[in-house]
Amino acid sequence: MKKLVLIAAIALFGLISLACVQSSQNANTTANTTSNANPKSGKLRIGFSMDTLKEERWQKDRDLFVKRAEELGAEVLVQAADGKDETQIKQAESLLLQGVDVLVVIPHNSEVSATIVEKAKKANIPVISYDRLIRNSEPDLYISFDNEKVGEMQAKYLVEKAPKGNYVLIGGAPTDNNAQLFRKGQMNILQPLIDKGDIKVVADQWARDWLADEALKHTENALTQNNNNVVAIVASNDATAGGAIQPLVRQNLAGKVLVSGQDADLAALQRIVQGTQTMTVYKPVSKLAVRAAEAAVSLAKKEKIETNGKVNNGKIDVPSILLEPISVDKNNLDATVIKDGFQKREDVYKN
Ligand code: GAL
Repeated sequence: MKKLVLIAAIALFGLISLACVQSSQNANTTANTTSNANPKSGKLRIGFSMDTLKEERWQKDRDLFVKRAEELGAEVLVQAADGKDETQIKQAESLLLQGVDVLVVIPHNSEVSATIVEKAKKANIPVISYDRLIRNSEPDLYISFDNEKVGEMQAKYLVEKAPKGNYVLIGGAPTDNNAQLFRKGQMNILQPLIDKGDIKVVADQWARDWLADEALKHTENALTQNNNNVVAIVASNDATAGGAIQPLVRQNLAGKVLVSGQDADLAALQRIVQGTQTMTVYKPVSKLAVRAAEAAVSLAKKEKIETNGKVNNGKIDVPSILLEPISVDKNNLDATVIKDGFQKREDVYKN
């Protein structure tokens, strides 16, 4: 009988200690998930590390992202690095030190920013690669558009209007993974026509940091070297399109030489209405920003996120959400960009 009581007592003791361990583990998990929340407000904190605010679209990204995150009860700490790698790394470190629960990064340099992911991972903080892919690292999510398709849309539009002749290619920042994807998409369309001998690429350049001035310089040189014999300029975004159009204006070629773009920037849409830029690719940034803010909150809460693909970044297949771009010219800009409220009609048709 004594023995039985002893066994029962030992068993009971064992059960109690196990329960204690489990409850303290639960307490730890809860503590971990909430420990970074703002001690004053108790809100989740999202770090938003941006490359730049130079192009108009990034200001929209920021505003829409912050708005949605705040609606979901989170707080966003925004930093923009002015196109400098060291600044972006420092800012990301500071966001981690400030105790963000999740880090959303628009990398200036797709390779160098792997450092940021490593630092976040060490601190056990999830990372979202926003719009641009961070390569050779392990971000938790990549959210962007189908960027190869963006490039295809640009080239497709131009070759339909100018199936033959001399083409100038102006790629984006070589340090931006998107710029490579746009070029890949452009070549999917152009290469068969180059092979046939219908299209000749007379200049193939990249605009450092997506600078309009770089595009201007490359276009100017291409025009000089080819005695203005150019039928189309494949500019990879609206900023570089704007740069490329300046020498065209000077040479009285604006509106005669086709120029592509991307972003549906206000200035680009005005040029489309005036006829100096041929098309742009509209990426509904509001969808991107909203989905990213929702995903950031879910990741911070350690909830599952629905994705629609995987993109290899050289190290892993990153779970991805890829949205659809829309090709825009003067015929459908009302039904797309303006209808969505992305730009105002009165602004686009000003002048
Ligand atoms: C790309 C982005 C484009 C364009 C460009 C310059 O990565 O996808 O929309 O804005 O950067 O910032």
